[in-house]
Amino acid sequence: MTKQIDPCTLVLFGASGNLSRVKLMPGLFRLDAAGRLPAEMKILSVGRGEVSREAWLADIKGMLDAKFKKGYDQQVFERFIERNFYHANPPTDPNAFQRMKETLSNDKVFPQNLAYFLSVRPSDFAPVVDQLAAVDLLNEENYWRRVVIEKPFGTDLPSAKALQASITKHLKESQIYRIDHYLGKSALQNIMLQRFANTLLEPIWNKDYIDHVQITNTEMLGVGDRTQFYDATGALRDMIQSHILQTLALTAMEMPAALTPEGIRAEKIKVLEAIRAIPVDQLDKHAFRAQYAAGEVNGEQVPGYLEELGDSSSVVETYAALKLFIDNPRWEGVPFYIRTAKRLHEADTRISIRFKKSPLQIGDGQDQNWLMLGIQPRECIKMEIQSKIPGLDINTRTIQLDAANRQDGDESIDAYEALLLNLMEGDNSLYLHISEVEAQWRLVDPVIEAWAKDRQPVHQYPAGSRDPEASKVIFEHEDQFWRYSIELGGDAH
Ligand code: BG6
Repeated sequence: MTKQIDPCTLVLFGASGNLSRVKLMPGLFRLDAAGRLPAEMKILSVGRGEVSREAWLADIKGMLDAKFKKGYDQQVFERFIERNFYHANPPTDPNAFQRMKETLSNDKVFPQNLAYFLSVRPSDFAPVVDQLAAVDLLNEENYWRRVVIEKPFGTDLPSAKALQASITKHLKESQIYRIDHYLGKSALQNIMLQRFANTLLEPIWNKDYIDHVQITNTEMLGVGDRTQFYDATGALRDMIQSHILQTLALTAMEMPAALTPEGIRAEKIKVLEAIRAIPVDQLDKHAFRAQYAAGEVNGEQVPGYLEELGDSSSVVETYAALKLFIDNPRWEGVPFYIRTAKRLHEADTRISIRFKKSPLQIGDGQDQNWLMLGIQPRECIKMEIQSKIPGLDINTRTIQLDAANRQDGDESIDAYEALLLNLMEGDNSLYLHISEVEAQWRLVDPVIEAWAKDRQPVHQYPAGSRDPEASKVIFEHEDQFWRYSIELGGDAH
């Protein structure tokens, strides 16, 4: 169902940065091509440097050329380019925001509903909101005003609370759009639908049938040129604090009373708040960290993290795994193992659920059932079941039912495209509520703190390898192990 979008202006802070080049501008272009932008909609890019409109439009063309190598529709391009303007906001100019207000006040050009996308350094989120308020650009008396805060929302619970306190001096919760781009992925939205729209799945989605759940996000990429950012962040903050805990929330939450934004958020908040605190005095049994060493990825020799960083004393993790328990009737006693890594053998995001032993055991070593929801690169649902090997004897083997969630001709929509559209529609259900952000920091903060204090050299794994053997310390039972691939045989251990 297509929702009505009011004429609006998107004010894009940090417009010449990487996110804007690779995701936001191309995403807006694709929305335009799909006919989803209101005819009057404008985009005002804000950057520190003085750039003429002409030069900025040429820059946008470069972004689109780089993204859409196969070309794009010329007519859409002309329409899109006409929507774009540039405003220089030099940090040294005390009147920059006043001048921006004057630019925006030209209502013949700029619709007065304003969405600000802050793709800036996290330390600038609060000051930019203060400045917008100071020149009365957040006032919703006649038009709506919305602010998107890119991740991370704080670097721990106290800083997230401080940021919240600062921006809520000027904004209501309904005006704040906190991004976790994973929520814009169709495959993540599908978790909830597959669970609750299938009689086959929901009745067995609990402690009576499930042995444990694994939520995995591994990448083959290393930290690239983001070494400084990464060393101040680490895998736990970068991936687990939001993307993976959000995936867990969708996997574990109760069915919302209604599929409304409020209904979904309420259930996610409840389940996130029901995750048991990780006991810091037994951290070794609940959390594991490691760093990639030099190794081979896709046939190419790659350096280790410490070499890339140029600092051998860093204890920042590029691999992080946690064991979590959810204290509610559905999940009592069921471990949730979550892990993320850079430079592993495979790029894979998925939920793998292992079921309990079946009542009928034929011989030793009969595999247990697995159900897997593939998020990326393949969006699929897979089920491994036991089946008789044809022949004279009664023996079983594992076979896999494998269904792709994507079919030929399905739309392929980038997470940011979906989120930008929701922003203009005024639907913040795929953005984070402050209670979710707080629950997530509350959970990971003690581990981050303990790890930062422990300066012993961190376990190393060769780039391109599978999970470090030592990570198995977090398993509750000896017969539990990492599912290393979504393919049949990916549970060999
Ligand atoms: C970002 C992290 O939030 O998500 C990156 O900062 C990570 O380190 C990226 O690579 C993964 O996103 P996606 O959409 O490629 O899975």
